[in-house]
Amino acid sequence: MDNEQSAASSPKHSSIITDEGSVTAVVLDAMADTPNARLREVMASFVRHMHAFAREVQLTEEEFDLGIDVLNRIGQASNDLHNEAILFSDAIGFSTLVCLLNNGRNGATETASALLGPFWRMNSPPTPNGGSIVRSETPGPALFASCRITDPQGRPLAGVEVDVWQASPVGLYENQDANQSEMNLRGKFMTDPDGRFWFRSVKPAGYPVPTGGPVGDLLRAQNRHPYRPAHLHFLCFKPGYKTLVTQVFVGGDEYLGSDVVFGVTEHLICNCRQGEGTTPAAHLAGPWFQLDHAFVMEPGEAKLPQPPIK
Ligand code: BEZ
Ligand code: FE
Repeated sequence: MDNEQSAASSPKHSSIITDEGSVTAVVLDAMADTPNARLREVMASFVRHMHAFAREVQLTEEEFDLGIDVLNRIGQASNDLHNEAILFSDAIGFSTLVCLLNNGRNGATETASALLGPFWRMNSPPTPNGGSIVRSETPGPALFASCRITDPQGRPLAGVEVDVWQASPVGLYENQDANQSEMNLRGKFMTDPDGRFWFRSVKPAGYPVPTGGPVGDLLRAQNRHPYRPAHLHFLCFKPGYKTLVTQVFVGGDEYLGSDVVFGVTEHLICNCRQGEGTTPAAHLAGPWFQLDHAFVMEPGEAKLPQPPIK
């Protein structure tokens, strides 16, 4: 045994447990020499809170087994196309908490962030302003979106790459729906010198999050519906500015006040008004809607999130 190994296998204090009351301190002591300071801090807090949780609810052994089974099933239900772990975090409000802890605090003027969700894909098709993200037949009312991005002083931000993705009017993303072509209702735009980008789409519908796995079981056990209100996702990226990941919600949607993943903040609800007269795209008939939205990006670090699916 080399010196490093023998040091690691002989803690400063004994790990022998005397009773229930001594477990937490013994575990914290065993982890106290973690060289990485942030890992040491995070794990110590995690252990303290997990132990406090078990004590507070007086967790039974049956409940412990059930919890472990749920964790295993979350892993087994996840693959390249579906991320059950993120869905679980979303459904208990944890994703939104982490998102708001890390964005828009301290009186920041940037647009409120909203959770990335499990459906962002990298490499959505570059699309010119005024273009359409309807890439295969998608019945439903047309939507014309016109948006502008500025800095906190109201100056236009040109050259922002804006990724847009949304569900169809039947509430499905293209990767969930064999009737939609690859990358339908996804597109990447670039703001013009006045900070504007604009495109045509279809009006999204609210939709249920996937309920075939342990998260669905939990929602049913809690008498909760699985719906999200209709929304569009935006990921705005420009070097020198904090990447903005957000969602814009269609005003008036019946699920605005009860989003299953707690993604709605007041400023992200937009007035999606019904257009009058002929549609702005001459070849389209039927009802159409207009959505205008302004985004604010703050100076900061530009970084892309990990795509939850391929
Ligand atoms: C979404 O908006 O795409 C989403 C967010 C959380 C869970 C499921 C879907
Ligand atoms: Fe979504």
